[in-house]
Amino acid sequence: MNKKTILLTGANGEIGHTLLEDLTNHGHSVIAIDLHPLSPEHESLCEEVIVGNILDEDVIRAAEKHDIHEIYHLAALLSTSAERNPELGHRVNVEGTLNFLQLAYRLGKRMGEPVKFLFPSTIAVFGIASLDDKMRIGKVSEEDCLMPMTMYGVNKLYNEHLGRYYSELYKRLSPETETGFIDFRGVRFPGLISAFTVPTGGTSDFAPEMIHSAAQHKPYTCFVRPDAQIPFMAMPDGVRALVELAAAPAENLTRRIYNIGAFAPSAAEIADIVRKAFPDTIITFSPDEKRQGIIDSWPADVDDSAARNDWGWKPQYDLERTFNEYLLPNITKMYS
Ligand code: SER
Repeated sequence: MNKKTILLTGANGEIGHTLLEDLTNHGHSVIAIDLHPLSPEHESLCEEVIVGNILDEDVIRAAEKHDIHEIYHLAALLSTSAERNPELGHRVNVEGTLNFLQLAYRLGKRMGEPVKFLFPSTIAVFGIASLDDKMRIGKVSEEDCLMPMTMYGVNKLYNEHLGRYYSELYKRLSPETETGFIDFRGVRFPGLISAFTVPTGGTSDFAPEMIHSAAQHKPYTCFVRPDAQIPFMAMPDGVRALVELAAAPAENLTRRIYNIGAFAPSAAEIADIVRKAFPDTIITFSPDEKRQGIIDSWPADVDDSAARNDWGWKPQYDLERTFNEYLLPNITKMYS
């Protein structure tokens, strides 16, 4: 594989850690951006770490010194955080993304080749009006139910369009051709479950919180109903999806944004499997009506046939394997 220089925003986040390890294992040179310093181990993997806000021009300028071939723009405020402060959510999620699309455009123009822009979108772009509709609809395809019910979902759906605009239509009235400098690609992630970190500020957090609490022998009160159902994915599959989409030949891609799925258990099914793994665990359900409302507006599952057909997407971890081969060994070691 050719060694590339890759920019990672949100490098200290859940996806960032695993992706940083994956990219540097494959010999790539990583420029990392995060609001907070990286751990010494993660910092030592990077060519440069820029600590700062993605809204700060100095941060963008520091990154722009490098010839960057790919940008994984992970920095974002997740659904619960953005709902608690929608204007901040908009600034970070939309203005932050715009900054990096503009950076990609300038870099692409300077280097004379398109910069690949990998974008983690989300099932939060979907919005279903009622639980009955949700259960009737089942798997949603990419164009279904695009009526997001959270600031985060609104931001991410708009970003998907911004990416398409910058790739295909940017400054379309200009006498010079201004397109072709960005190759924007994205996946809509389900809830992601990592063995190493507990997410903050998301609404799908009930699953990872339940698992990490059990591993620490702490009781957990779940903030959604037992029947709450959304798709989930193990972090190694999530990272692999981004990397494989980045590597896919452009001529095979029929769209810029793809649904990706793995498994779609109810909260009760997750609790059962957690109880089996950690028999002393105490899980109770005390639904928070408002956060439950967000989960009810997200689809029960996604149709990911386009990703499977165009770039060979296939999850390697179902729920059982996620638990037995990824979560249990790593989590148990981490908390022991
Ligand atoms: N995990 C995200 C959230 O809960 C959804 O993409 O906000």
